[in-house]
Amino acid sequence: MSKKSAKKRPDKNQAGKGRSRRKKEKTVTWRYLAAPIIIAIGSIALLGYLAMDVDSMAGRANLEADQWAVGYWRKPIPPQGAPPAEFLPAAKGLLPEDCGACHPAQYADWNGSLHSIAMGPGVSGQFPAMHPAESSTCRSCHTPMTEQYPYIRSGGDWVENARYDPQLEAAGLGCSACHLRKNRRHGPPLSPGKQAVSQLVHGEPLRTSFFEASEFCKGCHQHPSTSLKINGKTVENTYQEWLESPYPERGMTCQSCHMPERRHLWRGIHDKEMTLSGVTITTDVDPVNPSVGETVRATLSIENTGTGHAFPTYTTPAVFLRAAFLDGEGNVIKSGGFEEKILQRRLDMSVSPWGEVFDTRILPGDSEKLTLSRRVPQGAHALFMWVWVEPDHFYTGFFRNRLRRGSDFPGADSLQQALDESIRRRYTLFSRTIPIVGAD
Ligand code: HEC
Ligand code: HEC
Ligand code: HEC
Ligand code: HEC
Ligand code: HEC
Repeated sequence: MSKKSAKKRPDKNQAGKGRSRRKKEKTVTWRYLAAPIIIAIGSIALLGYLAMDVDSMAGRANLEADQWAVGYWRKPIPPQGAPPAEFLPAAKGLLPEDCGACHPAQYADWNGSLHSIAMGPGVSGQFPAMHPAESSTCRSCHTPMTEQYPYIRSGGDWVENARYDPQLEAAGLGCSACHLRKNRRHGPPLSPGKQAVSQLVHGEPLRTSFFEASEFCKGCHQHPSTSLKINGKTVENTYQEWLESPYPERGMTCQSCHMPERRHLWRGIHDKEMTLSGVTITTDVDPVNPSVGETVRATLSIENTGTGHAFPTYTTPAVFLRAAFLDGEGNVIKSGGFEEKILQRRLDMSVSPWGEVFDTRILPGDSEKLTLSRRVPQGAHALFMWVWVEPDHFYTGFFRNRLRRGSDFPGADSLQQALDESIRRRYTLFSRTIPIVGAD
């Protein structure tokens, strides 16, 4: 309205001419200025954007550590060579026991960890049937040092390895594989408050924050992005899951949870306490005191509140949420409404390339729920809800199938041992028993 009337006013037009000319002059100057200013603003915005991007990248992937990993985790790890003459004789050995003489705390921890049995019966039992080309791929994670390979590649052939040390091979993933490169000790920066001591024993270690980064673990706990992807995910995808979780932004690495205070325990799903620390389990029963014939609604919920990746992360474990009624002997009344939910990423290896049957694992922050809604059956003494963990679910089936085809092959005894072990490792993570009112 006001614009229209203003336009109609001649004096305004008159005055406007002068103004518009001046404006024009200004516009011209502005035009000259515009390009550089726009470029400047654009560049600042771009820089800001890039900085933000680099920031968020740095908060997630540690690019420097990622770069370090390339050279550090060449597989097989190149031969250490002869130890420097000035090393104390006691510090010249490569076996974990050698290191353990002076580093007893790390040795005790490591000795109870799965890294120390990376050459356990489930692995060693499979090797006799494998060509070195195949077992060498396994070795790149299970026994990665050149000194641990019985055969190495020479030209196009696989030849006996003159440096092969069967004792070192049996030690699995030991201290030297993670800490030694050409005999030089590598380790994390000194922990706060710790004084560097004169290193006459085995030379000054190369201290690098690479040891504190998740990228240190990536080489063996994440398949490369170029390898087989099933339903968009590599078979081993732990690092990627961690990268996409809220933990990198909180500054929490693999080590924060798996090596607290630099302990060498690497506890995971095989450890009940560790697994409990990664989830929050709750139950709800309505009515609180159910009786026979009454309809009861029970829920068992599990939330991933402290696992830095999917719960569980690998395709090998399976976690079962279960609810059922028990009779007087404590046996499940199968007809009475047994409920079960499996948390697992199950692959179909009978097809090529492998397929994914289902993936019901719980991502960080997510939860899963099992519901039982049933009339309490006759003979029920209790409502039972529990979480059952089979850390080696896949391997149990795998070893069993292999042995079913006959046990007349080298390695069969080891695989039988591995099968038994995989069954012994199962455990109840959580359980709750609700007595049935008036059960006889
Ligand atoms: C004869 C004793 C001895 C033996 C054997 C020995 N070390 Fe050490 N090591 C030391 C001493 C002493 C230090 C310095 C003090 C300390 O950090 O505990 C040290 C420091 C280290 C450090 C750096 C720790 C830091 O404080 O930053 C690493 C890593 C290490 N050793 C690894 C190894 C490994 C791996 C082996 C076996 C291959 C080994 N050591 C064998 C005595 C030994
Ligand atoms: C899977 C790789 C791996 C293996 C195997 C391993 N370490 Fe370590 N070690 C590490 C990492 C990673 C750190 C740093 C952890 C951190 O900073 O959170 C470390 C830290 C250390 C430190 C420094 C401790 C400190 O408090 O500053 C010593 C010493 C050490 N390791 C010795 C050993 C010995 C001895 C063995 C064998 C008995 C061993 N390590 C086996 C990865 C490994
Ligand atoms: C990229 C690294 C990597 C490669 C390559 C690899 N593994 Fe493993 N393996 C692991 C990790 C990590 C685990 C522990 C997680 C798990 O239980 O699945 C494991 C666990 C196992 C287990 C169960 C634990 C045990 O000691 O019984 C067996 C058996 C096994 N691997 C055999 C093999 C064989 C055979 C090959 C070669 C065909 C192979 N692996 C190649 C990383 C690797
Ligand atoms: C916030 C803590 C946390 C962080 C960060 C974390 N983890 Fe875990 N991790 C756990 C807990 C808790 C478990 C036991 C429950 C489970 O198995 O998921 C576990 C289990 C595992 C297992 C056992 C196998 C399996 O199928 O679950 C492996 C292997 C593992 N973590 C490796 C890693 C690696 C590698 C990283 C870094 C890329 C990492 N974790 C980061 C807490 C963490
Ligand atoms: C050189 C390869 C290699 C490196 C590096 C490595 N791991 Fe492992 N890790 C393995 C293998 C192989 C196993 C399985 C051993 C077995 O059971 O046979 C394993 C097992 C584990 C487990 C036990 C999982 C379970 O099922 O309970 C955890 C946790 C783990 N690693 C964490 C880490 C963390 C954290 C780092 C980095 C500090 C790391 N690893 C570095 C090869 C490696």
